[in-house]
Amino acid sequence: MEVETVLVTGANRGIGLEFVKQLVQLTKPPLYLFATYRDETKIQALKEIKDASKETEIHLIKLDVSKTEEIENARKIVAEVVGDRGLNLLINNAGAARWLGFPDITEEDLVFHFKTNTVGPVIVFKEMLPLLQISAKHKSTGVDVSKTIVLNISSTAGSIAVLTDTNPLWREYLSVMGYRISKTALNMAMRVAALSVKDHGILVVNMCPGWVKTDMGTDRAMIEVSESVSDMMKMLPQLNVTHQGAFLDRHGNTIPY
Ligand SMILES: NC(=O)c1ccc[n+]([C@@H]2O[C@H](COP(=O)([O-])OP(=O)(O)OC[C@H]3O[C@@H](n4cnc5c(N)ncnc54)[C@H](OP(=O)(O)O)[C@@H]3O)[C@@H](O)[C@H]2O)c1
Repeated sequence: MEVETVLVTGANRGIGLEFVKQLVQLTKPPLYLFATYRDETKIQALKEIKDASKETEIHLIKLDVSKTEEIENARKIVAEVVGDRGLNLLINNAGAARWLGFPDITEEDLVFHFKTNTVGPVIVFKEMLPLLQISAKHKSTGVDVSKTIVLNISSTAGSIAVLTDTNPLWREYLSVMGYRISKTALNMAMRVAALSVKDHGILVVNMCPGWVKTDMGTDRAMIEVSESVSDMMKMLPQLNVTHQGAFLDRHGNTIPY
C-alpha cells in the first residue's frame, strides 16, 4: 500500500493510534501524516511515534469533530503542509459510544452520538474535499502514487438488516441505541457523499473494523487492534470503483445496510 498524505481522526488511542503506527511502518510510508487528538495530556503514544518517525513527517492536530472551527483549522494546517499534493487518504475514525437503550434513551444521548459519529465525519469530509480533489486530479493524470480514498470507520452495529430478533450477538447490544442510530446515519450520509463525488475520482467507503479490543470494544472483544488495522490496510489497495459507497467488513465482504 502506498499513500503520500494521510489524515487520521481520533488518533491518540485505539484503532486510530494503530493506523498511525502501521502507516509509518509501511515499506513506503506516507510523506505526511496528520494525526488528530482532543486532549493534549493524552498524546504521549502519538508523540513517541512522531519522535521516532524518520521518513514520515507527522503533524499532531487538536481536533474535536463536533467543533466546526477546529475542523476548519485542521484543514488550514493540512493545506499548508501538503500544498499541491492534496490529501490522499482521509480516515474518519473518531467515534464514541455510550450505553443507553430504549426507553431510557434521552434526547441528549441521541444528539451526542449523532454529532460525534455522523455530523463530525461528514463535516470533516466536506472541509477536506478541496484537498482530496487536488490529490484525485493528480491520480487521473498519472502523477499520484495511489487512489484518493475516504475511509469511514463504521460499525456492523449500524446495520438494520443484521439486527433481527434471532441474532443473539446483536440483540445483546440493544443498549447502545444512540450509537447504532448514528452509525446507520453515517452509512447513509457517506453513501450520499460517495455518489455525489464519484466523478471526482474520490473513493468513499464505510468499513467495520470488527469487534476490537480497545477502550470502546472492551477486553471481551474478539480481535486485537493490530489485526483489525492490518486487515483494513490490506483491503485499502484492493478497493476500486465497484466499492464506491459500499459498506464492507475489514476483509472486504459486503455488510448489508
Ligand atoms: N472497537 C470496536 O470494537 C469497534 C467496532 C466497530 C466500530 N468501531 C469504530 O472504530 C472507531 C474507533 O474506535 P475505537 O475502538 O478505537 O475507540 P476508542 O478506543 O474509544 O477511541 C476513540 C477515539 O475517538 C476519539 N474521539 C471520540 N470523540 C471524539 C470527538 N468528538 N472528536 C474527536 N475525536 C473523538 C477519542 O479521543 P479521546 O481520547 O479524546 O476521547 C479516541 O481517540 C470508532 O468510530 C468506532 O465507532 C469500533
